[in-house]
Amino acid sequence: MDHFIYKNGALHAEDVPVAEIAAAVGTPFYVYSTATLLRHFHLFDDALDGLDHLVCYAMKAASNQAILKTLAQAGAGMDVVSGGEYRRAKAAGVPGDRIVFSGVGKTAAEIRLALEGGIRQFNVESEPEMEVLNATALAMGQMAPITIRVNPDVDAKTHAKIATGKSENKFGIPISRAREVYALAASMDGLEVIGIDVHIGSQLTDLAPFEAAYQKVAELTETLRADGHNIRRLDLGGGLGIPYARDNQAPPLPVDYGALVKRTLGHLGCEIEIEPGRLIAGNAGLMVSEVIYVKSGEDRDFLIIDGAMNDLIRPAMYEAYHDIIPVIEPAPGVDQVKFDIVGPVCESGDTFAKGRFMSPVTAGELVAFRSAGAYGAVMSSEYNSRPLIPEVLVNKDQFAVIRRRPTFDEMINRDTIPEWL
Ligand code: LLP
Repeated sequence: MDHFIYKNGALHAEDVPVAEIAAAVGTPFYVYSTATLLRHFHLFDDALDGLDHLVCYAMKAASNQAILKTLAQAGAGMDVVSGGEYRRAKAAGVPGDRIVFSGVGKTAAEIRLALEGGIRQFNVESEPEMEVLNATALAMGQMAPITIRVNPDVDAKTHAKIATGKSENKFGIPISRAREVYALAASMDGLEVIGIDVHIGSQLTDLAPFEAAYQKVAELTETLRADGHNIRRLDLGGGLGIPYARDNQAPPLPVDYGALVKRTLGHLGCEIEIEPGRLIAGNAGLMVSEVIYVKSGEDRDFLIIDGAMNDLIRPAMYEAYHDIIPVIEPAPGVDQVKFDIVGPVCESGDTFAKGRFMSPVTAGELVAFRSAGAYGAVMSSEYNSRPLIPEVLVNKDQFAVIRRRPTFDEMINRDTIPEWL
C-alpha cells in the first residue's frame, strides 16, 4: 500500500498534487511519501514485536538524509555498505550504535572511520577482511564487534544480478566452513564475535528460500554455541520483495516474514536484526517525467519522455517492470493504447517499457513511474551529461526539495582541464 492516489482527477503524493511539485521543481524528479516510508518501517517493526530486535534500513535503496532522518526518528537503525553511506547516516543523526556495516570490500580506511565514529557491528565477509579488521581495531586499542556473514547456498529464486546466497556468489563465507572461520575469529584479540549474518538476495517473492536459510542459521547457532561462541545476535539481511505490477500476485507481507523469523529462530533467544531496503522505500517513491514527443514508428508508437535510463536504470539493468501511469486521472472506460516508452539517451537500452498498454497521453503531459523509490535516485548517473534529477519529500500537505537539481555549470565545472591544454 502507498500514498500515491488519484484525488479530484489528479495524482497526489499524500495531499499534494504531483503536478504542483512538477511546476515547482521541473521534470523529471523523484518524490517520496513520508507516510508510506513510515508505514513500511512499522510493518517490519511490528512484525518482530515480542523479539528483541532492530530494523536496520538498508540505506543503499534510497539514501537521502531526509529519508534516513524520517526513519531514524521512528527508531530505525541503518545498514551501510561504504564509508560514504556511514558518513551520510551519521550526518542524518543516526548514532553509531544503530549502524551496521555490511559489504565484501570494506577498506582499512572505512573500518577506521566506523571504529572512530562508533558502530553496532561489522558483518565480516572473509578471512582477509577479518585480519584487517583485527589489526585496525588492535592498533586503535579497541575490540570490534562482529558477525560473520555465512553463505547458506540457498537459491533465492530472484533475478541473477540480485541473488547473493548461492555458493557461486561473492558474498559471505561458505556455511560449511563456518566453524573453522569462527574459531579463527575467536582467536583474534581485536574482535568480539557476537553473532551470525546472512542475506540471500533481493526482491524475493516467496518465503521458502528465507526459511531454508534461517533454518541453517538456527542449526549453526547451536553448533557455534556448543563450540563455545557466545552467539547472541542474528542479522537476517533484507530481501523481501514488493509488488511492481498491480496485477501480479502480491509477495508475502512483513507480518508473514516476521512469523517465519519467530518460528525458525525465536527459540534461540538472540537479538534479531533485519536489513530491509526495497520494501521500505520502493513503493514510497515515484519518478515523474514529462512526455516530450509521441512519435509514430513503422509498427509502433513511441512515448519519448524526459526521464531516461540514467535517472532510473532498473528496466535497462534488470529488465525490471515499473507501472507507468498518467498524472491526470484517465477518464473511466477510456481505451488503452500501446506504446514503447523510451527516454532521450542515445542507446536502444534506454527503454522503460515495450508494448505497454496505458491510457493515451500526449506531449506536455506528466507520467509517473510507480515503485521507483528504491534503487532509483541512488543508482542514477549523469550519462549523456544529464544532471542528477531532484528529490522531493512529501509529508501530508507539505513538500520539500531534499536534493535540488544541480545547475549545468555545477556539473560541468567539476571537470578540471590540465594546464598543458
Ligand atoms: N542487506 C544486504 C547485505 C544487501 O546486500 C541488500 C541489498 C539488502 C540488505 C537490502 O535488500 P532489499 O531489502 O532492498 O531487497 N539494485 C537492485 C537491488 C540490489 C540489492 C543489493 N543488496 C535492484 O534495483 O533491484
